[in-house]
Amino acid sequence: MSCILQIKNIKKTFHIKKSFFDFKSRSICALDNVSLDLIEGETLGIVGESGCGKTTLGKTIVRLYRPDEGQMLYKKKDITFLSESRLFRYRKMIQFIFQDPLASLNPRFTVGDIIREPLDSFSIGSKSERNSIIIKLLEKVELSGEFIRRYPHELSNGQRQRIGIARAIASKPSILIADEPVSSLDVTVQVKILNLFKTLQKDLGISIIFISHDLSIIENFADRVAVMYRGKIVEIAKSNELYNNPQHPYTRALISAATSLYTTRKKEKIYLEEENENSPKYPNGCSFCSRCFMKAKDCPEKKPVLKEVSDGHFVRCLLV
Ligand SMILES: Nc1ncnc2c1ncn2[C@@H]1O[C@H](COP(=O)(O)OP(=O)(O)O)[C@@H](O)[C@H]1O
Ligand SMILES: [Mg+2]
Repeated sequence: MSCILQIKNIKKTFHIKKSFFDFKSRSICALDNVSLDLIEGETLGIVGESGCGKTTLGKTIVRLYRPDEGQMLYKKKDITFLSESRLFRYRKMIQFIFQDPLASLNPRFTVGDIIREPLDSFSIGSKSERNSIIIKLLEKVELSGEFIRRYPHELSNGQRQRIGIARAIASKPSILIADEPVSSLDVTVQVKILNLFKTLQKDLGISIIFISHDLSIIENFADRVAVMYRGKIVEIAKSNELYNNPQHPYTRALISAATSLYTTRKKEKIYLEEENENSPKYPNGCSFCSRCFMKAKDCPEKKPVLKEVSDGHFVRCLLV
């Protein structure tokens, strides 16, 4: 099992000003020392509630964002701070699929133009071959060649997401980062698109990072799952282990809230409190502490580290 991507202690902070005349900016630490390995051919799920940093992580990996600190290695090559010109080859190998298929497809382009774009920019095939490559890509995402002349607004959301996938695999990438690619779809369409990802992975040998706010979506899909909370990974394990033996109280709460598409596993009922401005803050302690139903004496005072509790199962909690 070789590691295709290694992320080591990545940090990303956004500085936001309320207005132009505001001298003081507010800082949001979206990624706080995130470390991850992606194994060749696997699907790694990233889950966590809205705002925990999933999209920032995905966009940092494809270098749409530049990390503030840390290191990222693609096939052992350091790509952390590559210049735009040297990023070109890397971008061919690692592609991003956006959450909102309509917003991510240019409405003035036909489906053919949309898929042709990466073929042109990465010089894939000769000009005369590109039409037949586009038709093959459409077939790969289970659409007929006649879609080549259609426009995004003429398609269903599921068909649009298929076009997004065809565009992403056009450059024959080795890694796909899919950012909540099925969130906007009906449940039956979700299942079809998840199956499509699986087929493509088998046929093309792609490694996938699959981002979702809903654990149930990736239950039977991801090989491993990383759970994020406020910019940190709080638990990571093989899927089976994570779903059947969750250790972090936050993971347990997420599993209790998930409506499983596949299993009828008995679940504990855990209700997490919503956070608001008045919620207590513990800057020296665990970031989940104010909502934790298992909070102990040390939790507000001590920062937990990610520790291995069994083979490949890591948890960031003082209580495990
Ligand atoms: N471009 C940006 N500018 C400023 N703040 C941002 C930006 N992108 C994300 N954030 C903030 O960073 C945090 C993580 O956001 P994001 O990565 O989008 O989370 P998720 O995808 O898990 O919902 C949030 O608090 C969000 O408001
Ligand atoms: Mg997001």
